[in-house]
This record gives sequence, C-alpha cells and structure tokens, in this order.
Amino acid sequence: MGIKAKEIETIQSIVMAVSAGRVRAQFRKARSSKRYFDRIGAAWDGMQAEFFSDGVRDRAFRVAGVERGRTAVDLGAGTGFVTAGLVARGVTVIAVDQSRAMLDALRAKFPEVDAVDCRVGDAEQIPVDDASVSYCFANMCLHHVEHPSRAIGEMARILEPGGRLVVTDLDRHDHAFLLTEHHDRWMGFERGEVLQWLRDAGLESPSVESAGQQCCTAGPDGETVSIAIFVASGTKP
Ligand SMILES: C[S@@+](CC[C@H](N)C(=O)[O-])C[C@H]1O[C@@H](n2cnc3c(N)ncnc32)[C@H](O)[C@@H]1O
Repeated sequence: MGIKAKEIETIQSIVMAVSAGRVRAQFRKARSSKRYFDRIGAAWDGMQAEFFSDGVRDRAFRVAGVERGRTAVDLGAGTGFVTAGLVARGVTVIAVDQSRAMLDALRAKFPEVDAVDCRVGDAEQIPVDDASVSYCFANMCLHHVEHPSRAIGEMARILEPGGRLVVTDLDRHDHAFLLTEHHDRWMGFERGEVLQWLRDAGLESPSVESAGQQCCTAGPDGETVSIAIFVASGTKP
C-alpha cells in the first residue's frame, strides 16, 4: 500500500519539528555554558586551583615539546592557566574563548604583555588562520563543546606542518552533577573515541594516554570526587 501525499507531508513536518527541537536544545546548552562562564569570570582562578594542579599543564607542555619563540593557541583559555605557563616559557599566545568575561580576567593578568592576543570565538570555528601556529592546547575545554570532533578538526586546521595538538581533559565518568552544577556538556570521553577524532583530523602519531593527574571536586554530598585526566596529542603532517 502506497503512502499518500498528505501522509508524506505529515511525516516531513514531524521530522522537521524534531530536528528543529534538537537544534534549539543544542543552542540552549551552548548558551547555558557561555552564561555560566560569563558569570564566573575571574572567580574561575580559585575554582581551577581546586580542580587540578600545575602538573596538568606541565605534562601538556612536555608532550608538545614547547620551545621559546613559538606561537600557540590556548583554546578555551579561561582565565589563562595554560596561557600563563606558555608566556613564562617565552611563547606568544592567542587565547581563544567563547566568554568575554573569562578573557577580560585573563587580559587583566598580562596588562603589559604584547605576547598575548585575546580573541572571543568558538572552538568549532577557531578565529585563527590555517596553518599559522606551532601548538594548539585545550585544557578542560573539550567536555564543554557541543561537537568535540569538530573542535579537534579545527585545532588541526590551524597548526602549521609539524605543529602539535595537545588536549588535556576528563576520562569518561559517571558524575552527572557536573552537567548541571558546572554546565559540562559531556561526562568525559572514552580514550578510544578521542584517538579516532585525532585520526579523522589527519594527525600523525595520534596518542591518548593518562596524564597521571586527577581532577578533584566536592560531590553533591560533600564527598571528594576524583576523575582521571588524559592527555591526547598528534602532529600536523
Ligand atoms: C573549565 S574552563 C577551563 C579554562 C582553562 N582552559 C583552564 O585550564 O583553566 C572551560 C573554558 O572553555 C570555554 N569554552 C567552553 N566551550 C567553549 C567553546 N565552544 N568555544 C570556546 N570556548 C569554550 C569556557 O568559556 C571556559 O573558559
């Protein structure tokens, strides 16, 4: 029995309504993460120090093989945890974040430093030219991004040949309160899926391994929650 034109029209309008609803839901989530970080601003400094230690960025810099005189993007730079470490190592930084408030707090830390360029922008559309930087770091940003694989593709796009991508983020976990309390989009990631995203982005020597560090915070009942951190890296051919 064939489907009548009227029935096809009804099915089409249902499909359109469902996908429009999905787009709206995604948009709402992205806005809520942006609002959250806009509200936190400079207060992130204190929170960040409780969540993770300098060991995370030290590990990221070792994996990247950071050298003085290079240029790096700090994606989802926040108040400048990674940026500060790079500036101390003689690296010029383009700090990219969706939140103007976070970047204002970052900028205030480096009032005289020309080596820091702040740009408001999205991880899925990084406001940086193709093949223009030696490193791209993203610490604790990816689990806030709607489409993490697209962000990794963008990180790869802006790297010059031989440039290094280094992502430090959370292993898959089951602490759902982080979705509401800290507006996380993802409950961490499986290392295998991250590895596949690095491959899909065309990076050489893709690797995802333990960073040997934990992200710690208080759970809903005041208990200490500890989540393992991975370090993912790859090289632009
Ligand atoms: C958990 S904070 C980490 C900040 C900093 N990287 C650090 O290590 O302290 C996440 C940061 O990523 C930014 N962010 C989240 N989603 C983003 C997106 N789609 N594009 C750009 N920045 C984003 C947030 O505004 C926030 O500043």
